[in-house]
Amino acid sequence: MLNKNRILFVCLGNICRSPAAEGIFKKLVTDNKKENLYTVDSAGTSGYHDGDLPDSRMREHASKRGYALTSRSRKIDLEDFLDFDYIITMDDSNFNNVLRMAPDLESRNKIYRMIDFCSDDKFDHIPDPYYQGADGFELVLDLLEDSCKTLFLKLEENEI
Ligand code: 4NP
Repeated sequence: MLNKNRILFVCLGNICRSPAAEGIFKKLVTDNKKENLYTVDSAGTSGYHDGDLPDSRMREHASKRGYALTSRSRKIDLEDFLDFDYIITMDDSNFNNVLRMAPDLESRNKIYRMIDFCSDDKFDHIPDPYYQGADGFELVLDLLEDSCKTLFLKLEENEI
C-alpha cells in the first residue's frame, strides 16, 4: 500500500482561501507527477456556503494563474480528523476553531497554520479577502503559492 499524504486546507467559508490552496497544491502535485501519493481537499469552519463553488472573484484571479477551482464548499466534520494527516488552517480563528473540535491529542497534532510555511514574514496569517478588492485576492494567491511550495517540499523531504 502506498503511504499517501492526506491534506485538508481549512478557512472560514471554504469559498476563497482554502479552495485556492487546494487548487494550487493539487497543481503542484500534478506537475510533479505525484497524484498517487497525495489526497488534497478543503473545508470551512462555517457551513455558510455549503455546496457553493469558490467565490467568482477567487476563481477569476486563480484562473489567470492557471488554476481551475472547481471544489464545492463543505463544513469540516469529526471524520476529517481520521481522514486527513495534515489539517492546515488559514488564520488564528480557523486554527482555534479546529483545535476546539479535535477529539484527541493525535488529532490536535495534525493542525497547522498555513502562514508558518510562508517565506514572507510581513504576515502572521492568510488574510480573508472576502471584503477586499482585487489586490486582496492577488495577495492571498501570492501567499498561498509561496506556502504551498514550501509545504510540498517539506512533505517530499519527510520534514513534517
Ligand atoms: P474564506 O472567505 O474563509 O477564505 O472562504 C470568506 C468567505 C465567506 C465569508 C467569510 C470569509 N462569509 O462571511 O460569508
